Amino acid sequence: MTDKVALTGIKPTGTPHIGNWLGAIRPGLELANTPGTRAIYFIADYHALTAVQDPAALRHMTYDVAATWLALGLDPERTLIYRQSDVPEVFELSWILSCMTTKGWMNKAHAYKAAVDRNQAAGEADPDVGINIGLYTYPVLMAADILLFDSDVVPVGKDQVQHIEIARDIAQRVNHLYGDVLKLPDAHIAENVAIVPGLDGRKMSKSYDNVIPLFLSAKQLRKVINRIVTDSTPPEVPKDPESSHIFQIYRAVAAEAETRALAERYRAGIGWGEAKGALFEVLDAALAPARDRYSALMADTAQIDRVLADGARRARAIAAQTVSRVRAAIGIGPAR
Ligand code: TRP
Repeated sequence: MTDKVALTGIKPTGTPHIGNWLGAIRPGLELANTPGTRAIYFIADYHALTAVQDPAALRHMTYDVAATWLALGLDPERTLIYRQSDVPEVFELSWILSCMTTKGWMNKAHAYKAAVDRNQAAGEADPDVGINIGLYTYPVLMAADILLFDSDVVPVGKDQVQHIEIARDIAQRVNHLYGDVLKLPDAHIAENVAIVPGLDGRKMSKSYDNVIPLFLSAKQLRKVINRIVTDSTPPEVPKDPESSHIFQIYRAVAAEAETRALAERYRAGIGWGEAKGALFEVLDAALAPARDRYSALMADTAQIDRVLADGARRARAIAAQTVSRVRAAIGIGPAR
């Protein structure tokens, strides 16, 4: 049996944090190492362009994402990793697909709808004001990313499921018009993935400004952990581990026996400073080796460029076949 293609895109829009690691990167690396799976993970830099218009920031974040995945163990020999922008076939397919996509589907896409809602809430006369066409057709580009590689499954968070459904709708439309040309992908939502609370107890997210960045120095990491909000319960009072954000993050990283031991300390009475110390120790131990690899990569981005260029070369070999199959089916190019 041939391997199943698991493809996902990572949008470079911020420095990766502990929530990204535990929620997406760690499960993504596990999936990539699962026998029978051919993983394709790319950096969706042209998707980021819909929102990021600072060239230095965009370039930096692209390296940041690549260095983070490589540092945490992505093996570029086994897993295809590339910059989306290095695979021009994506954009050719994107145009083709946009000609098969009904505008009404885009009107319903949630990122566009949210932007319209914001305009309306701000009392704008034109609900589309300031919304670029790239944001509007974002789902078409994403469909091209996916369909280009005959992807079987697309590991994503819940917020992206609608986009996968749109990709399926577009593929079905193409197949209806031209015969069996494109493979229909399925969304894959990782189960049992830890939802990690941030410093203020809400879900860890860049938009709440409550994140613990992944690759801080040990000293900075300790400082950020000390900012986790706690209440004023005195140290000696027994505490419920389940209701503690510190414990929830700890559990997502520590081994089972360590987690049980910390839970016991909570029940016996633990000071918040002590709990934060335990969290620091487990995070620092888990991340120190990757932190060194990350720093080495970011200090030598040419090394990252080589890995990404090699990935793009291999990705294009696959992509070119799909595009020529599609072109032949839709009547573009010379007769053959
Ligand atoms: N839209 C995705 C996000 O915001 C990123 C992405 C771009 C993607 N292209 C993709 C995810 C293709 C899966 C497959 O996170």
